[in-house]
Amino acid sequence: MQTLTLTRPDDWHLHLRDGAAMAAVLPDTARRFARAIVMPNLKPPVTTVALAAAYRDRILAALPAGIDFTPLMTLYLTDNMPPAEVDAVKASGFVHAIKLYPAGATTNSDAGVSDLKKCTATVARMERLGVPLLVHGEVTDPAVDIFDREAVFIDGVLLPLLRDFPALKVVLEHVTTREGIEFVRDGGMNVAGTLTAHHLLLNRNAIFAGGIRPHNYCLPVLKRETHRQALVAAAISGSPKFFLGTDSAPHAQSAKETACGCAGCYTAHAGIELYAEAFEAAGALDRLEGFASFYGADYYGLPRNTEKISLRREALAIPLSLDYLGSDRLVPLRAGESVAWRLE
Ligand code: NCD
Ligand code: ZN
Repeated sequence: MQTLTLTRPDDWHLHLRDGAAMAAVLPDTARRFARAIVMPNLKPPVTTVALAAAYRDRILAALPAGIDFTPLMTLYLTDNMPPAEVDAVKASGFVHAIKLYPAGATTNSDAGVSDLKKCTATVARMERLGVPLLVHGEVTDPAVDIFDREAVFIDGVLLPLLRDFPALKVVLEHVTTREGIEFVRDGGMNVAGTLTAHHLLLNRNAIFAGGIRPHNYCLPVLKRETHRQALVAAAISGSPKFFLGTDSAPHAQSAKETACGCAGCYTAHAGIELYAEAFEAAGALDRLEGFASFYGADYYGLPRNTEKISLRREALAIPLSLDYLGSDRLVPLRAGESVAWRLE
């Protein structure tokens, strides 16, 4: 197949940052995706509907003219978010979910939840109003092996949470393990999962190929090949519980190529093309449209997009770096290499 036409996709997990960084990366997403769930881990985090409204305005103001793109906003759950904020979310029409970052789990998560028990009333309100809880599913206990943090989180936090709130809508974000896939698969239809392109394409060897590769370091960290295969099987399964979330997470080159580099892979520059590669490698290009364009909208109760995009099977050369913050550049996934598909 040389051309692939599909309904315009959405990205159900994206980091847009703010200010000049946002202006640099936003066009990559907006050219491909009609909508994106925008992560709230700014500094300070987006903890109220009022802050989300202001952030949304800044995103819309930074959009290049003539590009149709809708940011779907989220709030950042803290130990003291009042249940009334959930009412405001429901009434807003533009905030679509609340994100749980365990305190200290990842970039800008220091304000995250220290103990989910402190959020009981707020989570109960989310369950009642059908507001999805998006979960960074990793424990932060430094004694737990970094490759086991997702599985330990599922057993210790998510399964008890769903026993207490069985109807809560829960999205396990950026699933990276077989255990994560099984958790989503075995849950009710209120439980879903997003999958990144880099976790579908790479296993943990990519972090150490010939030397340390900071641009392949993200959280949750890449896992071993058997887990990658489980993710691919879920993505191509046709199950509506799994959908596209790039977790494209830009960090300046200087913050990645340093003694203690930030976690995050930038993938928005080839945000749908990389998934096409992964689905083609699995012989399942016909399953891409449901995963990329239908199931996320269905889960969030939003209309499916109607416009189409086309991808051509022709190598797309990826530059060594992209414009970002003045002289501080952004190194994208596959820098200096190519991606097998390109957007028409
Ligand atoms: C994300 C970031 O940089 O904001 N980093 C990452 O490795 N994915 C945070 C996150 O989603 O965990
Ligand atoms: Zn993320």
